[in-house]
Amino acid sequence: MNSYDLTVIIPTFNEMENIEKLIWTIISVFQQNSLHGEILVVDDMSTDGTIQIVQKFQKKQPDVHLIIREEDHGLSQSVVEGFKKAQSDIIQVVDADFSHPVDLIPVFYHKIHDEGYDICIGSRYTRGGEIQNWPLKRKLISRGATIIGRFLFPEITDPVSGFFAIKKEVVQNCTLKPRGYKILMEVLGKGQWESVAEIPFTFKDRELGESKLVASTITDYLGQCWDIGVHALTNHNTVVWKEWTKFLKFGLVGLSGIGVNTGILYLLTEYAGWYYLISSVFAIEGSIITNFLLNDAWTFSQGRNKHSEKWKRFFSFQIVSMVGVGINMSILFLLTEVGNLWYIVSNFIGIFVAFLWNYWINRTVTWGKQR
Ligand code: GDD
Ligand code: MN
Repeated sequence: MNSYDLTVIIPTFNEMENIEKLIWTIISVFQQNSLHGEILVVDDMSTDGTIQIVQKFQKKQPDVHLIIREEDHGLSQSVVEGFKKAQSDIIQVVDADFSHPVDLIPVFYHKIHDEGYDICIGSRYTRGGEIQNWPLKRKLISRGATIIGRFLFPEITDPVSGFFAIKKEVVQNCTLKPRGYKILMEVLGKGQWESVAEIPFTFKDRELGESKLVASTITDYLGQCWDIGVHALTNHNTVVWKEWTKFLKFGLVGLSGIGVNTGILYLLTEYAGWYYLISSVFAIEGSIITNFLLNDAWTFSQGRNKHSEKWKRFFSFQIVSMVGVGINMSILFLLTEVGNLWYIVSNFIGIFVAFLWNYWINRTVTWGKQR
C-alpha cells in the first residue's frame, strides 16, 4: 500500500474552473520527475461541479483520490483530514487555484526525501519570493499575520504560507486543532519537528473563482496563535517552548552581566584607584565578553559547532551590544528631556527596548541560521 513517493493534498471548495487543469498539471509534473504520487482532493461539498469533475478523473486515474466532507466545513480541517488519509510518508499541500506553482513540488520533495528536512515551506517573504496581484489590504493583513507568527517562529519567514510539505510523522502523534486558514501555523506549533527549509516562490492570485477569505479568518488566526502559545507552556518539546527558553536564558545572562559590570566597576575604582568613568568602559566591555561566552555556550548552544567562527559571532555580538547601549541612552535622553519622565523610569524603558533589540538581532543574526 505504501508505495507512493508523496501525496499532494488539494483542499477544494467550488474550484470547478481550476481543478481539472490543476490535476493534469500535477500529473505531468509527477511524470516528468519520475515521481509516483498520489493526488488527494479534499472537498467540502462544493456545489459547483468540482466533485463530479474529480469523480470523472478517478475512473481513469487510479492515483487520484477524493474525500467529500459533510461536516465541520473549513480549509484547515480539510487539510488535516487529508493528513490522516494520505497514503505516503511525505505530504504536500497546494491550493487549487494555481496560486502555488506546482512545478516546484519536486523541489519540496527533494528537500524532505533527500536532504532530510522535516518541513519545507514555500515562502513569499524570503529572498526571491513575491506576491502578484494582491490588493494592498490583503498584503497588509498578510504582513501583519506574518509578524505575529514570527514571534512564535523567528526563523521562518512565511509561517502562514499555504504551500508546504511535511513528513507525515510530524503530525502523526499530535492533536491538531484545525481552524481558519493557517494550518501551517498549527503544524509548526504542535507538530514534532526539528528542521525546516524554505524555498522562495511567487504567489499569483487566482484568475478564476473567488477567494474564500472572510473577516473571521483573522480572529481565528489570533485565537490560534494564542492557543499555540498556551500549548507550548505545557508541551516542552515544541519549537515554541524552546524559543521561549532561549529568551529566558538570554535574560538571565543579561542579569549576570549587570553583576559582572558592577563588580569590575567597583574593583577598578576602589582598588586600582581609577577614575570611575574609565573603570566603566572596562566594566562594560567585561560584561559584553562574559555575556557573549555564556550565550554562546548556553543560550544558543544547540545545533552548532561551538568553535567555528566564534570570533565572527563575537564581533557581531559586540556591535549589537554597542548599538544597544546607544538605543538605551537615546531613549533615556529623549524620554527624560522631551517626555519629562523621571530619568530612572526612562532608563528602565531604555533597558527594556535595548534588551529586545539585543535579543532579536543576536537571535537572528549572531546566532541565526547558518546557511
Ligand atoms: N475543503 C475546503 N474547505 N477547501 C477550501 C475551503 C474550505 O472551506 N476554503 C478554501 N478552500 C480551498 C480553496 O478551494 C483553495 O484551493 C484553497 O483552499 C485556498 O483558498 P483561497 O480562497 O483561494 O485562499 P486565498 O488565496 O485567499 O489564501 C491563500 O493564502 C493564504 C496565505 O495568505 C491560500 O494559499 C491559503 O492556503 C494561504 O494560507
Ligand atoms: Mn487563492
